[in-house]
Amino acid sequence: MLLKLNTISKSYTWSAENKVREVLIKLDFELNSAQSVAVIGPSGCGKSTLLNILGALDKPDSGTYVFNNEDILRKTEPELANFRNTKIGFVFQQHHLLPQLTVYENIMLPTLAKKNGTNQQSLNQYCSELMLQLGIETLKLKRPAQLSGGESQRVTVARALINKPLLLLADEPTGSLDEANALAVADLLVNSAKQFGSSLIMVTHSLQVASKAQKVFRLQEGKLIEQK
Ligand SMILES: Nc1ncnc2c1ncn2[C@@H]1O[C@H](COP(=O)(O)OP(=O)(O)OP(=O)(O)O)[C@@H](O)[C@H]1O
Ligand SMILES: [Mg+2]
Repeated sequence: MLLKLNTISKSYTWSAENKVREVLIKLDFELNSAQSVAVIGPSGCGKSTLLNILGALDKPDSGTYVFNNEDILRKTEPELANFRNTKIGFVFQQHHLLPQLTVYENIMLPTLAKKNGTNQQSLNQYCSELMLQLGIETLKLKRPAQLSGGESQRVTVARALINKPLLLLADEPTGSLDEANALAVADLLVNSAKQFGSSLIMVTHSLQVASKAQKVFRLQEGKLIEQK
């Protein structure tokens, strides 16, 4: 097993009226290594909230989160930063590529934060391999403004995979694409995760995109319910 969420709850309070909205309610979830799952559910049901907790960008109000036998909620902020950098790959709907850097530099960006001296030559080699697999090797020296939406998405996938993360988190990675491209990017995520040995959690509005994953969960009334 790669990770386990146990009775995770998360609420937001609006300061004006002091209203409380319970988004996640005693949610349980388990994910195996190299497993891909999709999470679906209507706007505002808490999908991004859940992904932020899984990616250690946010903390729940209660519950436990064990990742690779580590208790994530007990970690200090520097430990969490290291956890995010080394264990998690993020793909967001807006790709957040840095406009002043080339495709190659954007993909290599997450490796700069790694303190241990992974040798540069093997990193370059791995980057080339990823670009080849994703069909973006000819774009290496281009800048983000010169790319199409689908190409940018593939660069983001390469960047998310460069540190060989145990877990790939994708929040509506296909939201801005047409149907054919959306399915292609979903295939790419599922296949890249499989090929590079990462687990994948992909949030999507599209049932067709979701069906590319091994399992589909609906986030409903604060809990994840497997769809069969
Ligand atoms: N920082 C915050 N403060 C207050 N309420 C918040 C905050 N973040 C999210 N919410 C509320 O929590 C609920 C869940 O938000 P979340 O972003 O997780 O939904 P989502 O399922 O990702 O929606 P979408 O599909 O539209 O992206 C929403 O009702 C939202 O308004
Ligand atoms: Mg969201």
